[in-house]
Amino acid sequence: MIDFKKMAQTYDTPLYIYDFDHIKNRFETLKKAFKARKSIIAYAVKANSNLSLLKMLASLEAGADCVSIGEIKRALLAGIPKYKIVFSGVGKKDEEISEALKLDILFINVESEAELERVEELARGLGKKARISIRVNPDIDPKTHPYISTGLSQNKFGVDIETAKGMYLKANNSSFLEPVGIHFHIGSQLTDIEPIKEAAVKVADLTRSLIKVGVDIRFFDVGGGLGVVYDNESTIEPYDYAQAILSAMKGLDLTIVCEPGRYVVANGGYFLTRVLYEKRNGDKRFIIVDGGMNDLLRPSLYNAYHKVEIVDKKGAKEPADIVGPVCESGDFFAKEVKLPPTQRGDLVVVHSAGAYGFVMSSNYNSRPRPAEVAVEKGSSRLIRARESFEDLIAKEIEFL
Ligand code: LLP
Repeated sequence: MIDFKKMAQTYDTPLYIYDFDHIKNRFETLKKAFKARKSIIAYAVKANSNLSLLKMLASLEAGADCVSIGEIKRALLAGIPKYKIVFSGVGKKDEEISEALKLDILFINVESEAELERVEELARGLGKKARISIRVNPDIDPKTHPYISTGLSQNKFGVDIETAKGMYLKANNSSFLEPVGIHFHIGSQLTDIEPIKEAAVKVADLTRSLIKVGVDIRFFDVGGGLGVVYDNESTIEPYDYAQAILSAMKGLDLTIVCEPGRYVVANGGYFLTRVLYEKRNGDKRFIIVDGGMNDLLRPSLYNAYHKVEIVDKKGAKEPADIVGPVCESGDFFAKEVKLPPTQRGDLVVVHSAGAYGFVMSSNYNSRPRPAEVAVEKGSSRLIRARESFEDLIAKEIEFL
């Protein structure tokens, strides 16, 4: 159990806290689910890219799914080996592709015909053969939030099956491209296993037909997306998830690449903030805290639910909105939740903030970003210092 009072005293607020023991456990559970097969659990760095966290995952033999050269550099710095790093993303720049080729990562996930041409061109320039996989869009409704659904043809991600076939044949005939993998990712926060099964079956069928015509596919990259409990969702067990994929892959002897982000880190993270004031506008009760939407954007951006709790507080509960100091009506963490009366200085914990929390934070309203702390085996340590005013102006001050 994390001592939030002690955390606030030691590190101040607003603050991100990550329970490394919990996160390790989640990672190991997923790894175990796939252990019957050759597999790489390529953690989706976008979910939480803190270097200490990546280093801890590297020690558990994690790979990394990266969407920018910055993420690739983070993964390498943290000790994740290059042969376990994949590079995805719908809009990679030339410099990013070239650098990834020079760094010799496992493969680049290509998302369009135009990108395939760019990768070939850049590989030719470097005199290299680019290992690639193609992101197939299986056109399946993942039944999740529209902002995080990616596997429908109306989404910008990947290419349809027919286009993919053409791309594989082209790549197979190129001296600068080596198609080694196939990739799909239908969305995030998936809580229904059926769309995953359907997608895996479709992509496995395509893989078989590609192998038949001589494309040497060795990696079956199933993306990420495994959902977690924020409220009372019923989620997919990693074992069932792995079984669904394995059964779709019958007869295919390929290394599985799985790219979980949220599943690994979401529930192990807490956002800790302090009450500044309580106020009432008419019938409406507001608890104003020192953290804002710039620190944790998910409630504002997706209307996402995060459980909130006032630390060590009892008393008659009444509905309130928990809001931040940012000058936007959309700056809230919770709406109409029943909470006891609060006083200045009380601590509010926002749960399940380990994924897409700090990484989506900004300096809006010239607010320095919060510190990050790891809790492991009963002790805590700072893993990112709180930003200062000087950090905020560093890139501008020389031009004054
Ligand atoms: N692989 C690919 C190709 C992805 O696009 C993503 C997430 C993942 C793996 C990891 O998905 P996960 O296992 O974390 O669901 N900011 C949003 C989520 C955006 C997800 C983007 N892609 C949120 O806060 O809910």
